[in-house]
Amino acid sequence: MNAPLIKRPFDVDAIRADFPILSRDVHGRPLVYLDNAASAQKPEAVIEAMAAAMRGSYANVHRGLHALANETTDAFEAARETVARYIGATPECIVFTKGGTQAINIVAAGLDVKAGDEIIVSVMEHHANIVPWHMLRERKGAVLRWLDIDADGGIDTAALDALIGPRTKMVALTHMSNVLGVKTPAAEIVRIAHAKDVPVLLDGCQAAVHMRVDVSALDVDFYAFTGHKLYGPTGIGVLYGKRDRLMAMPPFEGGGEMIDIVEQERVIYNEPPHRFEAGTPPILEAIGLKAAIDWYESQDRAAIEAHEAALRDRAMDALSGLNWVQLHGQAPDKGAIIAFSMQGAHPHDVAQILDRQGVAVRAGHHCAQPLMKRLGVTATARASFACYNRLDEVDVFIEALHKARKLLS
Ligand SMILES: Cc1ncc(COP(=O)(O)O)c(C=O)c1O
Repeated sequence: MNAPLIKRPFDVDAIRADFPILSRDVHGRPLVYLDNAASAQKPEAVIEAMAAAMRGSYANVHRGLHALANETTDAFEAARETVARYIGATPECIVFTKGGTQAINIVAAGLDVKAGDEIIVSVMEHHANIVPWHMLRERKGAVLRWLDIDADGGIDTAALDALIGPRTKMVALTHMSNVLGVKTPAAEIVRIAHAKDVPVLLDGCQAAVHMRVDVSALDVDFYAFTGHKLYGPTGIGVLYGKRDRLMAMPPFEGGGEMIDIVEQERVIYNEPPHRFEAGTPPILEAIGLKAAIDWYESQDRAAIEAHEAALRDRAMDALSGLNWVQLHGQAPDKGAIIAFSMQGAHPHDVAQILDRQGVAVRAGHHCAQPLMKRLGVTATARASFACYNRLDEVDVFIEALHKARKLLS
């Protein structure tokens, strides 16, 4: 099935009406949900698709010879097709995982690495794109080479070029920082790495939500993202891998579904993507993710991108006028994810006071401790926006911040 041709004209209130949770109150105030980089809310279409499957057509996939098993298998594989189309891939290159984290772990665990081989990561990676490589360091003696960022959170591609050496086995970088909102020059990164025959993994957990991603055009080797930030359910993520790359990788887990033949003396593994989907896969979650993508693609994505840029600009303009607020990451290509510190206040206290006013932001290290160290802080507050946030919610957020300032100074 192709993406819907007729898009719904952008109307933030119409979008909001699709998300039941957005009409609730928090502490007697209307909810202003600005924690979307951690997890986004779900439209009715997702809730209903999962409930409808459970009510009307549910069984285990791939192994049945009865109607419900066949219907559910069709729904599950249709989800793979939708995901593939969403990122410009073909279905046999799409592995369903339990999240973005597992997608990256599958690649790290499957990489042929010897002691002294090198993995390049940046200092602004999420732990999901650091710790699996650290595990390779611990287990196989791999060496992590760190790409620095500039003061605004930008990546220097010349520095990347210089870091890649004869022992480099992988360049593993974020496509969009979950803390700074900075987008990385993915096409340029891939070009530089491929010129030296080094594969690239992009962590697209944030980018797959806020930008249109085409893995074929990018020519990237691996792309990882997660369902729950993309208005879909938890418990599902996606690993895209080029066919030859996936074919060359050993399985991550063993069990049912991922085999071709099992005998007493030997086992022959299934081909990708099933080789990497041991056991019962996230069936309902795949159906939910398909519903999320179908819902999202029925919207005017260009208008949503413009709206999110307007949210970012309004928030950045207001925050940069406050001399008691420090903004982190002001690179030109920045999405609507804003990390900030308030002078003299701990981010946890800031977040708690905002919460009392109905404004949900996150505070902490955001699973990016090397970045915190690079920024010279232990934690930050973070406001992250989604397509359903209204411009006037930015004003509520800023007003709440003024109140926090009064209470904390
Ligand atoms: C950039 C980035 N990578 C990876 C992850 C991990 O995704 P998940 O928790 O769904 O496995 C996140 C989640 O916060 C993220 O923001």
